[in-house]
Amino acid sequence: MTVSTTPEALSIQLDGSSVVHIGDQIHTSLRQAIIDGRLAPGQRLPSGRDLATQLGVARGTIRVAYDRLIAENLVYGAGSAGTRVCAQPLIERSHDQSSFDGPLAAFTRPYSSAPQPFQMGVPANDAFPAKLWTRMRARAVRADSNSYTTYADPRGELALRSQIASHLAVSRQMRCHPDQIIITSGYRQGMMVVLTALRAHGRKAWIEEPGYPLGRRALELIGVALEPILVDAEGLRVNDGIARAPDAYLALVTPGQHAPLGVALSSARRHALLNWATESDAWIIEDDYLGELQLDGRAAPALAAGEGAERVIHVGSFSKTLSPALGLGFVVAPLSLAERLVEVCAMLSPAPNRSSQLTLLEFMADGHFLRHLRQMKDLYTVRRQLALAHVKEFMPDSLAAGLGLIAQLPGLANDRAIVELARVEGLAPSALSAWYLDRTHAKNGLLLSVTNLHSDNINAACEKLANIVAAH
Ligand SMILES: Cc1ncc(COP(=O)(O)O)c(C=O)c1O
Repeated sequence: MTVSTTPEALSIQLDGSSVVHIGDQIHTSLRQAIIDGRLAPGQRLPSGRDLATQLGVARGTIRVAYDRLIAENLVYGAGSAGTRVCAQPLIERSHDQSSFDGPLAAFTRPYSSAPQPFQMGVPANDAFPAKLWTRMRARAVRADSNSYTTYADPRGELALRSQIASHLAVSRQMRCHPDQIIITSGYRQGMMVVLTALRAHGRKAWIEEPGYPLGRRALELIGVALEPILVDAEGLRVNDGIARAPDAYLALVTPGQHAPLGVALSSARRHALLNWATESDAWIIEDDYLGELQLDGRAAPALAAGEGAERVIHVGSFSKTLSPALGLGFVVAPLSLAERLVEVCAMLSPAPNRSSQLTLLEFMADGHFLRHLRQMKDLYTVRRQLALAHVKEFMPDSLAAGLGLIAQLPGLANDRAIVELARVEGLAPSALSAWYLDRTHAKNGLLLSVTNLHSDNINAACEKLANIVAAH
């Protein structure tokens, strides 16, 4: 049966006043038409030129929407036979994939595009110093191309490691030598290197409950058994950990600013955690993703800063402080581990390309990084206030937490279902329940990042979310 592929039949109704980009609206409508079966397996999509004319948009916009569908295995390019819907099994696979990471997908996707309102894990897109960075990057690429043809230091450039050591002394009160530092592409590479160096496979780890789901999944992929330990207003309940799994080999924590609740680990708990690690020869992995972006009061020093630091591996990232698109981060290891870490870098996972590192070096050395951090804290403080005032109008139980808000939902509400509905509308809240490993602990709520909410988009975004929550 031939099914009509007019924009009406495919339910493509474009809303020029929406915060959602026109291309995203087209992509979402087509995706839904395929999933609903209105576009059947094997069926040909309208040509890009035809659809562009019918919708009154540029052909490039249609091309990008089709490319995204291809990347999602929903359609394929059949040469002169046009772009066609994939066979059923591929559609099912795409369903499987979205149910595998459904609640988390909004967290990292869509890839390589502007962040959507409420999307976590991204800084302010409009505040990245793009011009300055581009200029420095051009200089770094030139310098690098004109210099060596040998292998780069797998730990990362010494000058950048020294610069990071100086920065951490000021911002996180850590005293470390550049030899303890390796440069990475961010938290994820840091975890890979650290877990490999620690030979963590088959061991047990405390993880925060709730806690960053991708960190949890990283441990699972390496073959680490997870022990979820509840987090309360003082951070990780260390005594629970000691009672439940005193023999754990690792604890993965966000002590500076808990993700996603935003609390800092109290000093009593810090001591208890460090004591446990020292006494039981366990390792603490400090995920300091948000540590430098403390909006409420002064940031506590890093866990790797004081007594007991020889059991702490500090994992830093420039994803939130600068941009995840740069792919830059670092690890600071205790001296006893540094050599093993360097070996893993050298053999398996070297530092990212030299020109990115040299760009960051100049950016930090000239004082731009510290200035940018200061400006971002001010900006996020304003955005968080604005967002809280708006969101409280329709979800009165909302609280500020870190660089976002947590909106508690009543018992019967299903946060994952709301997140799915919001995604179709081009919003990207995250479901609090997805951050729990143990379903019996899980709380229902929406995590709403404020980093990309501002006066231009907040009204429309909040109105849409309010409607979704009300209808649910
Ligand atoms: C708590 C936490 N840690 C780490 C990361 C990831 O950092 P990276 O982009 O460096 O892999 C995120 C990203 O959102 C995060 O929320």
